[in-house]
Amino acid sequence: MSVHSLSRTADTLRRAGCVFAEDEAVLLHEAAASPDQLSLLVGRRAAGLPLEHVLGWAEFCGRRLAVDAGVFVPRRRTEFLVRQAVALAPEPAVVVDLCCGSGALGLALAAALDRVELHACDVEPAAVRCARRNVGGLGQVHEGDLFAPLPERLLGRVDVLLANVPYVPSADVELLPAEARVHEPRVALDGGGDGLDVMRRVAVEAPRWLAPGGSLLVEASERQRGAAVEVLRGAGLSPRVVVCEELYATVVIGTAGARAPGGPWPRPESGRAGLGSVEIGSGGGRGCDDDGAGA
Ligand SMILES: C[S@@+](CC[C@H](N)C(=O)[O-])C[C@H]1O[C@@H](n2cnc3c(N)ncnc32)[C@H](O)[C@@H]1O
Repeated sequence: MSVHSLSRTADTLRRAGCVFAEDEAVLLHEAAASPDQLSLLVGRRAAGLPLEHVLGWAEFCGRRLAVDAGVFVPRRRTEFLVRQAVALAPEPAVVVDLCCGSGALGLALAAALDRVELHACDVEPAAVRCARRNVGGLGQVHEGDLFAPLPERLLGRVDVLLANVPYVPSADVELLPAEARVHEPRVALDGGGDGLDVMRRVAVEAPRWLAPGGSLLVEASERQRGAAVEVLRGAGLSPRVVVCEELYATVVIGTAGARAPGGPWPRPESGRAGLGSVEIGSGGGRGCDDDGAGA
């Protein structure tokens, strides 16, 4: 493609409101096998489809993975959650990626570990199909509501439970950019009244599935973090918060205590008063600092 046509594409995209028009133009030119296909791709993008849905892939944790139409596009900020998980995971590790969407989180974590048993699940058939393609032989992808499709043999054995659940408060869904509001399924976004309905359901069940010392990792908005900490604490997990200002990411981690064989699950440490600790985002990279606040 000529430089002239590249700049024409960028102009079209800019007029359609694409902030990174030049970069996107390059990607669309690379993806198009012919001028006709280029017009089609540029037309779709200019009409407001997310770039990732137009291209058919998204970049996450340094790898390209398939993202089909109607499947949630993994966000760059969620790479911070994965980095926390990598730091926590024992080896070998049993990993569950609940609400997996395209399977991005579980795949990235599995790729970072040598020995892992990975299970991913989602309620949306389109997401499950997409995750199966992405995860391939690295794990199993199940279809169904939260934990329901997981094999029972995982009870009490999950070392890392990734759960990037929908957490947008219902009333705020209408305020999202059209790319999300129109082109991503509502079930991937809407977390109920305060945005934490799905997180509450996950937290209540998590202790049954977690191995002693295993952790649940969820993402929340900055505004939700205090409530999210209480959700995890209320479920019997020891909560802490890690933030990455550069990625605008807040991750709440709830860790299960050790359990005596056959005994009840312990309550979290009593010393953790308040909203749970807020830490330097270990492994979070530049700009991922202790925000100093008590959450
Ligand atoms: C915010 S998206 C996150 C997707 C993926 N984890 C990521 O970060 O790219 C939430 C996902 O949760 C799924 N989901 C919503 N409610 C669910 C439920 N009750 N059971 C299983 N999956 C659910 C949606 O289909 C969607 O794929």
